[in-house]
Amino acid sequence: MTDLSALDDSELKDLYSDLEKKYSDVKKQNLSLDMSRGKPSPEQLDLSMELLDLVKSEDTLVVKEAIDVRNYGSVDGLIETKQLFAEMLDVAPKQIIIGGNSSLSLMHDTVARALLLGVVDSKTPWSKLPNVKFLCPSPGYDRHFSICEALGIEMITVEMLEDGPDMDKVEELVKNDENIKGIWCVPKYSNPEGITYSDEVVTRLAQMETKATDFRIFWDDAYTVHHLTDQPDQLKNLLDACVGANNPNRAFIFASTSKVTFPGSGISAIASSEENINLIRKQLSTQTIGPDKLNQLRHVRFLKDLKTINQHMQKHAAIIKPKFDMVLNVLETELASYNIATWNEPNGGYFISLNTLDGCATEVVKLASEAGVKLTPAGATYPYGKDPKDRNIRIAPTFPTLTELKTAIEVLCLCIKLVSVKKQLDK
Ligand SMILES: Cc1ncc(COP(=O)(O)O)c(C=O)c1O
Repeated sequence: MTDLSALDDSELKDLYSDLEKKYSDVKKQNLSLDMSRGKPSPEQLDLSMELLDLVKSEDTLVVKEAIDVRNYGSVDGLIETKQLFAEMLDVAPKQIIIGGNSSLSLMHDTVARALLLGVVDSKTPWSKLPNVKFLCPSPGYDRHFSICEALGIEMITVEMLEDGPDMDKVEELVKNDENIKGIWCVPKYSNPEGITYSDEVVTRLAQMETKATDFRIFWDDAYTVHHLTDQPDQLKNLLDACVGANNPNRAFIFASTSKVTFPGSGISAIASSEENINLIRKQLSTQTIGPDKLNQLRHVRFLKDLKTINQHMQKHAAIIKPKFDMVLNVLETELASYNIATWNEPNGGYFISLNTLDGCATEVVKLASEAGVKLTPAGATYPYGKDPKDRNIRIAPTFPTLTELKTAIEVLCLCIKLVSVKKQLDK
């Protein structure tokens, strides 16, 4: 098949009626497939079942520093758990606070505390300003944007380039606006594009001049150990870069074991400068008398160290890599020659990001939904749910079975073709 723009009107009409027929056949199948969220499959969850047996009633539950894990205390987590995340994030254990099962809630609370109380270098709590703003490299993670919307923070979209956010734009904006207090970043195998920030981008983020003295980088390193190849992307250490640039308190790093063990029952962490960590620990102490250390102990016993984590993640990759490959193969076979979509081939993470022709994504997602294939809503990867080019669709291949996935992606491709041909006909 050839590039759509090379077809004349009658060829386009023939193609369109052929596609319409295929679409109506698909609808008759009454499919019900969900590709909307990046969740591990049950098979992946099974990889961590042993974890549940690693804390038993007959065990000694007093660990390092004479901590009885059953009791109150250790508001910032067990030293053993901090060591585990310290190795994973390449920081010192004293730069870590361990959270509950969700790093997203750590992010939410970090933003909320900054609004209510300010951060280490704040002259005033952020909420005292007329309008706090965050930079949102996009396409990005919809739940970051939801935090801003829920807490009344204005979002400024910044384009994602091949090696991270458009740094010329970021530098220009933060240099001139005191109300820009933060930037959301998913620096490794980004959600949704699978991009890992280059060393240059990390250095520029650490060094850039900001009008706000209390500007913060919200570094969501959710996919730091989630490689799909045996040649993982490398991410420069942001905290070191910030120290080197004399901006030691600029970054908050977040991570969790959600997609390592169990999303509903994992552990999370925040890493930052000691000064930031000390303030957060103090603030946390009014919120809790101590976290779930039994679950921390289970995780420490199961994951042990970075080497064991990497071995465990290889088992995840063995399950999900064929799914990514399948999606990429179907996209290539069904769409490449038409020249109506582009997509990325990630080395890790949980998503494939697809761009349709401009102005087509909403209609594609609607048609797919009407054919029984649920996708992440079009626009979700942009602030306020508004993709300015209406073209980005996030594909989450991990949860469905291979068979379901193949059907779902074929339906998606059919919908992309239908909408693109219609667009060409309407020109
Ligand atoms: C970039 C990113 N950050 C955070 C999360 C959620 O993390 P957690 O389960 O630790 O709250 C996700 C989940 O999809 C994600 O994609």
